Amino acid sequence: MTPQDASQKCAEICALAPVVPVLVVKDVAHARPLAEALVAGGLPALEVTLRTPVALEVIREMAKVEGGVVGAGTLLTPEDVIAAKAAGATFGVSPGATDKLLDACEAHDMPLLAGTSTASDVMKLLERGYTVAKFFPAEANGGAPALKSIGAPLPQMKFCPTGGVSLKNARDYLSLSNTLCVGGSWVAPADLVEKGDWKAIEALAREAAALPR
Ligand code: 3PG
Repeated sequence: MTPQDASQKCAEICALAPVVPVLVVKDVAHARPLAEALVAGGLPALEVTLRTPVALEVIREMAKVEGGVVGAGTLLTPEDVIAAKAAGATFGVSPGATDKLLDACEAHDMPLLAGTSTASDVMKLLERGYTVAKFFPAEANGGAPALKSIGAPLPQMKFCPTGGVSLKNARDYLSLSNTLCVGGSWVAPADLVEKGDWKAIEALAREAAALPR
């Protein structure tokens, strides 16, 4: 997959909803009902972080949910890419970008939302042919004003800012011309997941899905 095709695919995924839930799932039994609640609430694109021992199994379960588009987050190595793909992930997300990781994603047809936090990071991805990326950690890096400033000289890169994004500040990002969607964990809080309160999670998803952009 070329960087251009990967960016096209990522742009399509980002267009599905204003928010991509960032999920840290510790119990495989939570996978299906959690994904169903988020999809029912209007958030079909889901990022399952590879930060728990069961993450790949969670991806496998969530990939069975109708209407869901399941991606793997925290991709760090070529091995992660191969494992995520085998589990059924259709896109990847990483906190940063290395040539090794980009090579692996291109070789294994895994569209990647690669993390950037500086103008140089963005320029490197643009040089390679990418036009869609993640901005991470968004709030700690200056938030929406910083992303807006990066967009002045580099308007050709479009972003999914993630990290510290919530219902409170999501609009600030979504109103920017270089923001396609935002990523965030607030739609699936750990306490609600633990309790299995899928109705409450569906309500949070619905609220997030209604954000203007
Ligand atoms: C993460 O690192 O877990 C993601 O960027 C999500 O960040 P958040 O919990 O601040 O939404």
